Amino acid sequence: MSTAPTLDEVKQELSNLASAVAAPTIFMKEVVRLLHTRMSKYNWIGFYMIEQQPSGEPILVLGPFQGAMTPHTRIPLHQGICGAAASTGKTVVVDDVSQDARYLACSVETKSEIVVPIFARGKVVGELDIDSHFAAAFKTEDRELVEFCAHLVGRYLDAPSA
Ligand code: SME
Repeated sequence: MSTAPTLDEVKQELSNLASAVAAPTIFMKEVVRLLHTRMSKYNWIGFYMIEQQPSGEPILVLGPFQGAMTPHTRIPLHQGICGAAASTGKTVVVDDVSQDARYLACSVETKSEIVVPIFARGKVVGELDIDSHFAAAFKTEDRELVEFCAHLVGRYLDAPSA
């Protein structure tokens, strides 16, 4: 059995990826694939990116993801844990989703969740959402890892060619 990678190893793989891929969408697909492969408690991983609706209202739209299909492909900014992270620009960690009234269910197996906003050109442009089948799965080091991923994506989107 192979040993679990250290978070530094995963961060190094992510940094290598960021310099190897040709477009932000490809990078995002690779990030979800890598986290899903490497992090055994990360059971659903997906990006939501902010788009403007014809009404002018912003909405979170599901982007690259790994895991079961979710019913929540479009989430208004005033709904869900996803909406809370996007509208406040702050990471949200929920140790027990059954105790959080904001939670929009994606799978009955989900016990805990982390959502990290992605900033580009000084504003929130999307977020990285991860669900776990384990309660309180997202510790300080997981938060650091997911924030690192969100930062890399934001930096990629900030690049002049993005
Ligand atoms: N649980 C999220 C919705 C997205 S699904 O988890 C994929 C929320 O409460 O916003």
